[in-house]
Amino acid sequence: MMLTDKRILLIIAGGIAAFKSLDLIRRLRERGATVTPVLTRAGAEFVTPLSVSALAGEKVFQDLFDLTDEAEMGHIELSRSADLIVVAPGTADLLAKMAQGHANDLASTLLLATDTPVLVAPAMNVRMWEHPATQRNLETLRKDGVLFVGPNEGDMACGEYGPGRMSEPMEIVAAISSALAEGPLSGRRILVTSGPTHEPIDPVRYIANRSSGAQGTAIARALNALGAEVVFVTGPADAARPEGAHVVEVQTAAEMLGAVQAVLPVDAAVFSAAVADWRVASASGSKIKKTKDGLPTLEFAENPDILATVSQMAQGRPELVVGFAAETDDVIENATSKRLRKGCDWILANDVSPETGIMGGAENAVTLIFEDGSETWPRMGKDEVAQQLAARIAETLG
Ligand code: C5P
Repeated sequence: MMLTDKRILLIIAGGIAAFKSLDLIRRLRERGATVTPVLTRAGAEFVTPLSVSALAGEKVFQDLFDLTDEAEMGHIELSRSADLIVVAPGTADLLAKMAQGHANDLASTLLLATDTPVLVAPAMNVRMWEHPATQRNLETLRKDGVLFVGPNEGDMACGEYGPGRMSEPMEIVAAISSALAEGPLSGRRILVTSGPTHEPIDPVRYIANRSSGAQGTAIARALNALGAEVVFVTGPADAARPEGAHVVEVQTAAEMLGAVQAVLPVDAAVFSAAVADWRVASASGSKIKKTKDGLPTLEFAENPDILATVSQMAQGRPELVVGFAAETDDVIENATSKRLRKGCDWILANDVSPETGIMGGAENAVTLIFEDGSETWPRMGKDEVAQQLAARIAETLG
């Protein structure tokens, strides 16, 4: 992971995780990046300007009204001269300011004035992270195109446990590399759906397909590594979210369709989500109670077919649409007719019979089906399947 000549503007906000940002600066510089540090007033309570500037080998910017700085480099120029702005730690307060568009100190002003991509490594107490206000702000920022890495789950400095720990420096370096990746897919925007959908029965129960989200995540990473801007629409999957992708979280198939439509237009779309075919026709607003009068009956309604909807768009259809077919019998035959029925360009078919160990496992054995034939790939890791597919997509989009 080299970052030779990449210019990173690193905003260090006020959180205990700021000490990890000192190590982050070292790791970035080791890889050839230039780091211009910005320290907020609260940030300077946790790490000293001297250690920040000594490690960065650059002046640390702290104050919006520092006239000398304005003479040397105005805040507008400072905000735009980097390849990437990294906010680490991203505190709840700074996320709120960003979501609202405040510009009342140097960090928030830079973030409002910039036209450079922004990557945030959030760090905060678990309750603050889970608070609806923070979650609302995150959703807004994701829609604005802000990238996120972490937070991780674990013990917190405040003695609590849960999500809120800032990602480790090397995880942030990986996310920075993904965000700055260049390759044959640079300038291309690609959608990837992933994970299961959850269709509620009542507020505590749901129906779903089995899906770890591992293959979809690997595909998003591989496309990103070739330089694509990836929008990753995922149901509630266990797999970690791909660094460097714009992540949109959904629960149901209907929400997934809405999110996908909001993401269009894209150059290519890969539908690896295991979408539930049916939803409960009228999900109960309150928990269904066990009674002596017998068992409840569930009535189903059909979910929209997202792959078919996008494949058959009269206008604005992606240049390349790729579907998956997880089958247990007559894999190639079923997948071939599925390709025609849905109207997608390619189908990646795989045998998910329990004896294959593919479902939830690290490997996959796929056959790529296209208009005039098919090609069976040897069994390989899901990461390798993803890399092969990404390379194929790059070749086809040209
Ligand atoms: O019909 P089946 O579910 O087997 O088709 C699998 C393919 O269709 C996958 O690519 C899956 O992501 C997509 N799909 C979808 N929306 C649905 C059902 C499946 O996008 N409602």
